Amino acid sequence: MTDLRKNWRSVVEGIGSCLPEKRVTNSDLEKTVDTTDEWIVQRTGIRERRIAGPGETTSTLATRAAMEALANAGRVAADVDLIVLATSTPDYTFPSTATQVQAALGITHGAAFDVQAVCSGFVYAMTIADKFLASGSHKCALVIGAETFSRLLDWSDRTTCVLFGDGAGAVVLVAQESEGRVSDRGVLTSHLRSDGRHREKLFVDGGPSTTGTVGHLRMSGKEVFRHAVGMVTDVMRDAFAATGTTADDLDWFVPHQANERIIDASAEKLGIAPAKIVKTVQMHGNTSAASIPLALSVACADGRIKRGDLVMLEAMGGGFTWGSVMVRW
Ligand code: UT7
Repeated sequence: MTDLRKNWRSVVEGIGSCLPEKRVTNSDLEKTVDTTDEWIVQRTGIRERRIAGPGETTSTLATRAAMEALANAGRVAADVDLIVLATSTPDYTFPSTATQVQAALGITHGAAFDVQAVCSGFVYAMTIADKFLASGSHKCALVIGAETFSRLLDWSDRTTCVLFGDGAGAVVLVAQESEGRVSDRGVLTSHLRSDGRHREKLFVDGGPSTTGTVGHLRMSGKEVFRHAVGMVTDVMRDAFAATGTTADDLDWFVPHQANERIIDASAEKLGIAPAKIVKTVQMHGNTSAASIPLALSVACADGRIKRGDLVMLEAMGGGFTWGSVMVRW
């Protein structure tokens, strides 16, 4: 007989990432659209982004990130019984990109599916995987954020094409018994929100059931900006309240990397010290669901994020969707 009432916590065991080879700087973009390096840096903080090449797709980037995360965790693909992949740029309308990654990793057991919450995709995917692991039904999850937004962009629209990039990041989440303490490792709390009334502020003007085309990304940047800070700070406050922690207890703040001004304003509103902010927007641009695991990966590799650190993740994006995840690393 097994105990069905164990208190499981989802612990991050490994992390990996993958960026396309091709680097596109702001100066490169000056040659193709009416923009300047100065405008892009001042308004967003972005200096360069990576763009997928002909042989690279969301699933190939995701698979490489997943393999690196498994190696980092000291795991093999056969250990994985759940793949939750956040993307808005799947390889195909169906089947899911998660199943393509599953096949590429040689896994034929367990479940794999995609989550579509645009830039909030990774916090949604982490939350979903955490619920699976906490229920005791699954033991080892790959949570992946992977995107090729370059393939949704209208490269003649300077208001959007300079903002986004491609890439993938992945974490291995494993179920471990926990006494439920805030000091114990793992996902401590998560808070997801959405409000579909805001569709037209950030959307893709195509789809299988409407135009029958893939479409292009359209955004009223100012409108999105106007909502972003309030939404992400709300869900971070929810995380502090649920855990009895404050901004001072955080070791690292790893936000969605859309715009440096949104990141700084959110941190300032909550009293998070600038030195605790992990920023990768300058080198990756906005990689949507991939941005948080890519930033986590950089901050783990350079030794900033260490085991036992308290880490706040947050994101906001199309839908609107938004959410926070607090993790004891
Ligand atoms: O990840 C999902 C969530 N997405 C976001 O968080 C994005 C949120 N929004 C933003 O990051 C900002 O609103 C943008 C970076 C998109 C735009 O910054 P902004 O300060 O809100 O600028 P704006 O849209 O008000 O545009 C200011 C001016 C406009 O010219 P006029 O009308 O003042 O003459 C634009 O036409 O800048 C112009 N502009 C550009 N100029 C040079 C817009 N794009 C460019 C460009 N290069 N690439």
